[in-house]
Amino acid sequence: MNSKFSTASVVHSFDVLVIGSGAAGLTTALNLSKQCRVGVLSKGSLSSGSTWYAQGGIAAVLDDKDTVESHVKDTLFAGAGLCHKDAVNFTVSNSKEAIQWLIDLGVHFTKTDNTEDYHLTKEGGHSHRRIIHSADATGKAIHKTLADSALESENITLFENYTALDLVTSPSTQTKRFKCSGAYALNNQTETVEAFSAKSVVLATGGASKVYLYTSNPDSATGDGIAMAWRAGCRVANMEFNQFHPTCLFHPQAKTFLVTEALRGEGAILRLPNGDQFMHKFHPKAELAPRDIVARAIDHEMKRLGSDCVYLDISHRDDDFITSHFPTVYKQCKEFGIDITKSPIPVVPSAHYTCGGIMVNQQGQTDLDNLYAIGEASFTGLHGANRMASNSLLECIVYAKSASENIISLLPHASTDTDVPDWDESRVTDSDEDVVISHNWNELRRFMWDYVGIVRTKKRLERAANRITLLQKEINDYYSNYKVSSDLIELRNLSVVAQLIIESAAQRKESRGLHYSLDYPELAKIKKDTVLVPSNFAAQETIND
Ligand code: FAD
Ligand code: SIN
Repeated sequence: MNSKFSTASVVHSFDVLVIGSGAAGLTTALNLSKQCRVGVLSKGSLSSGSTWYAQGGIAAVLDDKDTVESHVKDTLFAGAGLCHKDAVNFTVSNSKEAIQWLIDLGVHFTKTDNTEDYHLTKEGGHSHRRIIHSADATGKAIHKTLADSALESENITLFENYTALDLVTSPSTQTKRFKCSGAYALNNQTETVEAFSAKSVVLATGGASKVYLYTSNPDSATGDGIAMAWRAGCRVANMEFNQFHPTCLFHPQAKTFLVTEALRGEGAILRLPNGDQFMHKFHPKAELAPRDIVARAIDHEMKRLGSDCVYLDISHRDDDFITSHFPTVYKQCKEFGIDITKSPIPVVPSAHYTCGGIMVNQQGQTDLDNLYAIGEASFTGLHGANRMASNSLLECIVYAKSASENIISLLPHASTDTDVPDWDESRVTDSDEDVVISHNWNELRRFMWDYVGIVRTKKRLERAANRITLLQKEINDYYSNYKVSSDLIELRNLSVVAQLIIESAAQRKESRGLHYSLDYPELAKIKKDTVLVPSNFAAQETIND
């Protein structure tokens, strides 16, 4: 263990507790670190979140010929009528500043050959080249720089291998809401629960795509923050909009490898097994149509032909161009015996991004006092019914800054009553049947894929709802009787997230963006978010009102 990491003690106390060490969590911690003491939890290593795996880049208005209006327009179009315009304007207007902040911190973005100009690539839905990137490993470059800076900061304490399991809440003495004053977390090394108390808590726990059998996401993406916030009484919105990335490598040994959309931005063509192109039949922008349309077109063609995959072909471009712009994809495919300079890549869609999440305002505030949510765990209104490619890292950086400013401004008034009651394990025993966890884990992810996937029906959603009710009962009984483990915490959270997705999908009686129902194939006349309100919702004045 690095000497920078805290060794376990039973109660830890900070000004701010940040749960999550991806782009959202580390950016928040760094923005706060000049003024407060920050504890950062990560349930695996610091790089365990999706940020590390991001390939394509970050969307921002950087080219002289591009405009904020154009980026806003593209985002609104991709979002299929559900983006909140204020959130889109706010994020895009701050995009240049966000990129400059990363550059100043030391992130190396790719430059155009022999010049000082940054190379900007294109992805689906964007009408300009506006994706700044570090070859095809942008997430790694950003995360490494953020993590190095956090390691250098005296005010940031990093706790790796700590899985937060629930928030500590109580009625606020200052408002009519509840407040958050910390969290419990399982120390995965000692297998004991420790308490963290803080004046403010930030959920930066990432998305929930592990709820599906096939996903581009790392194992950490189990929706823990969304489930914790829901249990604590926060509203969540638009959980039916789970984005499926059109092109993940199809190979028995390639568990979650994404083939970046930037390949299509640089001319890669989607082909059927017989070599025919097909995307022009589905959208005038063909390969560069918004992601929901491309994923659905591939799903349609695979089902029509009974094929296991389709193919993505960039072999017509120069070998040097391919290997210098896409070294990660080139190397990874080569390891599986595919030379992308010569042959097409077998690809399938898989669950990629959670557009819904914990409802927040422009400062990242949730329905609970002192509780914030940032990044993929949050619902800011930016993405609407379908996130435009490379807008998510941008959202992490922009909202981390606005939330940090808000936290710092409120800290002097924050309650000093941050007592966290002891974790009570007196009535539980060690599990004697871990098969319950592995069985339910597999069953849940399989039925979510089969019944709540790219194409939905009323009947499939009803089947999924019946199953999740049974599973949740079993999982909650198990949780009440046995000591917690990280697998059990994740399974319990996945079951909450699955329930929220199924419920939201059942409420949406139309097809819009990422939610496509054979029973309701048309757009509804009234555009609205799906807002789920927990039974313990206590915010008489909600933060978004
Ligand atoms: P994450 O980076 O996922 O971090 C979550 C953190 O929370 C992790 O540290 C995790 O350990 C921690 N955590 C979770 N639960 C707990 C818990 N219970 N206790 C303690 N810690 C916890 N977006 C773009 O804009 N551009 C791209 O090019 C791009 N490419 C992508 C490629 C891939 C393969 C994937 C998977 C995603 C990509 N995305 C891209 C999406 C983007 O990477 C994510 O939306 C973004 O990184 C999310 O950042 P985050 O900080 O919110 O969460
Ligand atoms: C990709 O590189 O295709 C992923 C981009 C994103 O998800 O924003």
